[in-house]
Amino acid sequence: MPQSPTKPFSDVLSGERQAIPPVWMMRQAGRYLPEYREVRAKAGGFLDLCFNPELVAEVTLQPIRRFDFDAAIIFSDILVIPYALGRSVRFEVGEGPRLEPLDDPAKVGTLATQADFGKLAPVFEALSIVRGALGAEIALIGFCGAPWTVATYMVAGHGTPDQARARMMAYRHPEAFAKIIDVLVNNSIEYLLAQLAAGADVLQIFDTWAGVLPPAEFARWSVEPTRRIIEGVRAKVPDAKIIGFPRGAGAQLPSYVEATGVNAVSIDWTAEPAFIRERVQSRAAVQGNLDPLVLITGGTALDRAVDNVMATFAQGRFIFNLGHGIQPETPIAHVEQMLRRVRG
Ligand code: CP3
Repeated sequence: MPQSPTKPFSDVLSGERQAIPPVWMMRQAGRYLPEYREVRAKAGGFLDLCFNPELVAEVTLQPIRRFDFDAAIIFSDILVIPYALGRSVRFEVGEGPRLEPLDDPAKVGTLATQADFGKLAPVFEALSIVRGALGAEIALIGFCGAPWTVATYMVAGHGTPDQARARMMAYRHPEAFAKIIDVLVNNSIEYLLAQLAAGADVLQIFDTWAGVLPPAEFARWSVEPTRRIIEGVRAKVPDAKIIGFPRGAGAQLPSYVEATGVNAVSIDWTAEPAFIRERVQSRAAVQGNLDPLVLITGGTALDRAVDNVMATFAQGRFIFNLGHGIQPETPIAHVEQMLRRVRG
């Protein structure tokens, strides 16, 4: 499989620290950019945008043109996998995703085991357009949701503050819940491999809701499925570069890194610096972890926060990013300020 020479981002994932860390932002293609809002307005629904290869390529490249980030992430969503599994998935303006709930064993009995990847052909086409348009030094990131986080939306049918429906289902009906997880593991392997074949250089697995699980459940429903996905991808592409984002995993980050074999782990802004340096950055590259709210704030608070992240992590293998996605109300001038500060 052709792997383009994408540095310095890929070099960090191979274990080589860069003097100036590579930078990108989660949700870097999005509503804080006027050029995104313009494309979004003419695309129709959110999924219509996700399945239009030319428009996906355009919004994926917008933040690269404006900020010269070291990585582009393909514009899509983690919920395209339930969609390809034949579940109904809608995005209501101002409300977030709406799915048909999968909240009892009888409903799980109707879940397809094989996704229709023909439905995701526009994602693969967009990856190949973007890879062709990007300079060789910029990495292209493909992604999927971790099974646990995707399952929280599939079970409840929408976003929830505490993922209570999925947690309850995992306690009450562990076999049925394990079936959802297994279906997501198998299809995520296939999906990530197809993204690599279409032009992705690096993969990220988003486990946004990992932090709500007690340790035993975290090991079973977050770590183990992620480990199986990575094993499955590397069975076909042994040197596949993979970043994990188990948001809120805190004290469990070292065991997550150890068990899953990720090349890098994305951390949120609550991470304790010395713990991360000694127990996590010693085993894998670290990505993060500026608080998106200080990026909204700007000024000296932003400068101090950027300096603090750099002083904490830039001595080791490090990718500068936010601790979670950029918020729509973030001023563009603050992103520019952050980049000047990181790049010197
Ligand atoms: O990072 C990027 O620039 C790539 C694009 C991307 C989107 N979603 C676009 C999107 C990525 C990587 C995701 C992942 C995703 N989707 C996650 C995990 C990462 C995270 O942020 O925690 C989750 C939990 C979802 C599910 C999802 N999609 C929710 C809860 C929502 C509604 C909330 C919101 O921000 O509006 C979405 C919609 C969505 N996905 C939008 C974007 C830009 C907003 C919709 C719009 O622009 O109309």
